[in-house]
Amino acid sequence: MSQRLVNLDDYEAAARSLLDEQAFEYVASGAGSETTLRANRTAFDDLELLPRMLHDVSRIDTTVELFGKIHSLPVLLAPTGYHRLMHPLGELETILGANMADCTLVAANFATETFVSVQAQAARPQWFQMYVQSDRTFTRDLLQEVLSAGCEAVCVTVDQPVNAIRDREARIGFELPKGMERANLKRLGSAVAGAAHSPQGFHIYNAVRASDLTWKDLEWLRGECPVPLMLKGILHPDDAVMAQQSGCDGIIVSNHGGRALDGVQSTIAALPAIVEAVGPGMTVLMDGGIRRGTDVVKALALGAKAVLLGRPYLFGLAVDGAAGVARVVNLLRMECQIAMGLLGCQDLSQIQPQLLHRKR
Ligand SMILES: Cc1cc2nc3c(=O)[nH]c(=O)nc-3n(C[C@H](O)[C@H](O)[C@H](O)COP(=O)(O)O)c2cc1C
Repeated sequence: MSQRLVNLDDYEAAARSLLDEQAFEYVASGAGSETTLRANRTAFDDLELLPRMLHDVSRIDTTVELFGKIHSLPVLLAPTGYHRLMHPLGELETILGANMADCTLVAANFATETFVSVQAQAARPQWFQMYVQSDRTFTRDLLQEVLSAGCEAVCVTVDQPVNAIRDREARIGFELPKGMERANLKRLGSAVAGAAHSPQGFHIYNAVRASDLTWKDLEWLRGECPVPLMLKGILHPDDAVMAQQSGCDGIIVSNHGGRALDGVQSTIAALPAIVEAVGPGMTVLMDGGIRRGTDVVKALALGAKAVLLGRPYLFGLAVDGAAGVARVVNLLRMECQIAMGLLGCQDLSQIQPQLLHRKR
């Protein structure tokens, strides 16, 4: 069947027919009225490509260097929680797909398998996404644990200090199935590791993320983290500059895939001002709405060094396990190569803003 799934959206349609409603809605939905979720996609359509002709594209090179490591494609797998909702082996299956596609997984703090167990199966070091906990000692110990296991870089997610409004999850009463928990938080006890993802009722705070995290904590985190440290969820250029001044090595321009504050700018629209604010010394990545090779090219043309892919690889995991994850990445790889060839670009350095025209 997977041969008939020819693009990333096909995987979403296939996953919808395979997954139960709880799992599908958890992944596909966004926050509030889903304005930002939609904008993440439509903003790409506002950017038109301006190809150049008669360039030698007989060899196309999609490799990129991030923090001194070579990646065969400027695409990483974004941190997403609870892979066991998609596949019985959860992240242990995802990592096999990442291995097959030669791709780095940014392992989520809210994974259903520990970072250590997933890293043991990984062909290349994973990155780790961190939610700082109210118990900072726990956070420090978890950081040490993932670093000892070989974590290559750490992304601290900063865009959800309080719960988001998730109407679709609330309507179906989404909760973690019995026996499924946030494996990396086990030591905080099952009340936290298995705590409701979006507590029903009038709950603003959540047991699994600190709400008192501020720029002051970053100094402490920087001191604890000898590997590249990034902030994930930056949308304002001033915050990007503060991240830079706080000693972060990179930022991920992200609105959590339209799952945090609804009504914020799409990430592809937010990207250029951030790139300009931090200048060339800072590694800027982005995610949100990447579904086509041309989307990757547009993000790179606007100054992202690489992008992260969220929902599509989860749908690949649901449809065909590791093979589905790998096929989703490889479809995107082929689309990137074709987009570059048709634009007249041999390598990623040739993807420049002049290849884009803003429609309105
Ligand atoms: C089901 C799901 C779970 C997610 N869980 C997390 C998470 O635990 N931590 C985090 O930083 N981002 C999380 N995200 C956001 C992704 O890392 C990423 O920012 C987003 O999915 C990118 O948008 P896209 O899905 O349109 O590609 C999640 C996204 C989805 C779809």
